[in-house]
Amino acid sequence: MLAVPEMDLQGLYIGSSPQRSPVPSPPASPRTQESCGIAPLTPSQSPKPEARGPQQAPFSVVVAIDFGTTSSGYAFSFASDPEAIHMMRKWEGGDPGVAHQKTPTCLLLTPEGAFHSFGYTARDYYHDLDPEEARDWLYFEKFKMKIHSTTDLTLKTQLEAVNGKKMPALEVFAHALRFFKEHALQELREQCPSLLEKDTVRWVLTVPAIWKQPAKQFMREAAYLAGLVSREDAEQLLIALEPEAASVYCRKLRLHQLVDLSSRAPGRGCLGERRSIDSSFRQAREQLRRSRHSRTFLVESGVGELWADMQAGDRYVVADCGGGTVDLTVHQLEQPHGTLKELYKASGGPCGAVGVDLAFEQLLGRIFGEDFITTFKRQRPAAWVDLTIAFEARKRTAGPHRTGALNISLPFSFIDFYRKQGGHNVETALRKSSVNFVKWSSHGMLRMSCEAMNELFQPTVSGIIQHIEALLERPEVQGVKLLFLVGGFAESAMLQHAVQAALGARGLRVVVPHDVALTILKGAVLFGQAPGVVRVRRSPLTYGVGVLNRFVAGVHPPDKLLVRDGRRWCTDVFERFVAAEQSVALGEEVRRSYCPARPGQRRVLINLYCCAAEDARFITDPGVRKCGALSLELEPAEGGPDTAGMPPGRREIRAAMQFGDTEIKVTAVDVSTNRSVRAAIDFLSN
Ligand SMILES: Nc1ncnc2c1ncn2[C@@H]1O[C@H](COP(=O)(O)OP(=O)(O)OP(=O)(O)O)[C@@H](O)[C@H]1O
Ligand SMILES: [Mg+2]
Repeated sequence: MLAVPEMDLQGLYIGSSPQRSPVPSPPASPRTQESCGIAPLTPSQSPKPEARGPQQAPFSVVVAIDFGTTSSGYAFSFASDPEAIHMMRKWEGGDPGVAHQKTPTCLLLTPEGAFHSFGYTARDYYHDLDPEEARDWLYFEKFKMKIHSTTDLTLKTQLEAVNGKKMPALEVFAHALRFFKEHALQELREQCPSLLEKDTVRWVLTVPAIWKQPAKQFMREAAYLAGLVSREDAEQLLIALEPEAASVYCRKLRLHQLVDLSSRAPGRGCLGERRSIDSSFRQAREQLRRSRHSRTFLVESGVGELWADMQAGDRYVVADCGGGTVDLTVHQLEQPHGTLKELYKASGGPCGAVGVDLAFEQLLGRIFGEDFITTFKRQRPAAWVDLTIAFEARKRTAGPHRTGALNISLPFSFIDFYRKQGGHNVETALRKSSVNFVKWSSHGMLRMSCEAMNELFQPTVSGIIQHIEALLERPEVQGVKLLFLVGGFAESAMLQHAVQAALGARGLRVVVPHDVALTILKGAVLFGQAPGVVRVRRSPLTYGVGVLNRFVAGVHPPDKLLVRDGRRWCTDVFERFVAAEQSVALGEEVRRSYCPARPGQRRVLINLYCCAAEDARFITDPGVRKCGALSLELEPAEGGPDTAGMPPGRREIRAAMQFGDTEIKVTAVDVSTNRSVRAAIDFLSN
């Protein structure tokens, strides 16, 4: 069946359809924005997708940035000793009761919009500003979530600072990334003065696996703007998927580097489990090679020992429970090289630990009034930050077996502002409110009962468990016996207990690595050193283009018939490049050829469509949407405006798309000259 590109294309698809007939004269397009008069080409057999090894740029150090919703950090390792992971320098500042291996994802810009500070420094400086002055400063926190929640993300998407002022999200992200770049390079310069002058850094940026292509591209664009890498050296930046990075790290762990939650659950064979870990520890032939340097971690070799010891098979789920999202990945560990194969597309949702913070805010709203809380945040932003810090410390001490109440200091500014706004004091508000598990302590604190804390955690924790349970229902995941719980929120005793109670009962072994909050960051460094470690992924969506096929009566619906130059075409046909949930190996290519329609044409633009279903027939089917555009930038051909002596339609541009990497990639070549053609897929300009 002949296939040519859909109406709005500016080039001709040569195609891969097996039953292709001789090419007809091109149908003109009724829907072309700029009429393109597609020129015919003799169809060539499109090669089968072929596997190619990943191309690796030269580098001598990998720096990974784990850019989190609530906290961020970087780590690095040198190509000469890739598994010795150096953690970033300890950050300035910090909070009591909070380990600060990462720094809060808080950015402060001056009233003029210039960078002032990031992390604890930003948060504390903002906090200490005079309240009147603070209103002019641009303070951003938890802004990564905006990228996930915005459905029509573009390069112009705006972010709102705490004071209500807006600025382009891209600039906000770029400020943060530039901070990390400078911090990391400074540290590298100090450690290895000769290194950076002659050698290259490979940067790795982590994103949730459930992020869509536009969000991943957005991070890449922010990295270009921050000067992490240039657009010309795009391959020097890798996008790593957070649970995948954690998996890369977890697969190297041994039993004694893990906590098995079943050994903690009361009444569930506690002793037996503990013994298995202890004996494994004794049996371990190698001692954990710890570096002299306290910030350097050596990853142990011995892939697969964990699974052999645990008799849990070679397949496992990784649940990254972060501040913003819960992100799930299922991997199979392949022998003999320890590569990973994704068994089901990434899943999860916005069920991160900030859900607990939000529940606390809503609780305050129920007690003091939602309008009051909104006004207070706007008018006394520094005091609001104070209150969130106080809550964060208490949130981390909450546990399922705790019996005593928890006290949370209310800033004086809150008490004072409430009296001025509400006309009575906070104690009265608490007495009058319907919330009876929060009381006022005589020491000026909110006294929250255990039930109150449980209630704040409950929606988020059940959301996480529901996502994991839904994943375990999938046929691809049947028989998986091991779950790694990772990410900062995995430190929560509340979450650990609930996950173990719900999933332990299903026969799943739930384990938490030591250094659980740094698993993603360390894994991202390992991934940067060897991105080929994840050998096979599952496409999250079906991707393809719209094409014209020969119209076949009885097969194609009459409303899709288009008659041009006496030929009958079926329009809007969805030609699939890759199906949702399809396994795609790294380096595997889908090739299509296109040709410019007009002499001297400098650009071919082809719309990409996607959908969640595997079997959409037309680009007009429900659920199918335009998601991006493939562009091919053409150099003037040698010998004239187009290939000398060759009809314009004969200039074949062969595009090769890859769906097996962390981002969808495309390369293209001008077949007649064998020169590469600038090709890109833009997911942000819809
Ligand atoms: N012991 C604990 N109890 C409860 N919550 C905790 C605990 N430790 C960390 N958290 C929460 O975990 C979150 C931080 O986790 P992490 O650093 O993995 O998130 P992130 O990387 O910023 O977010 P994301 O990966 O979703 O973008 C914070 O919201 C923090 O409050
Ligand atoms: Mg994270």
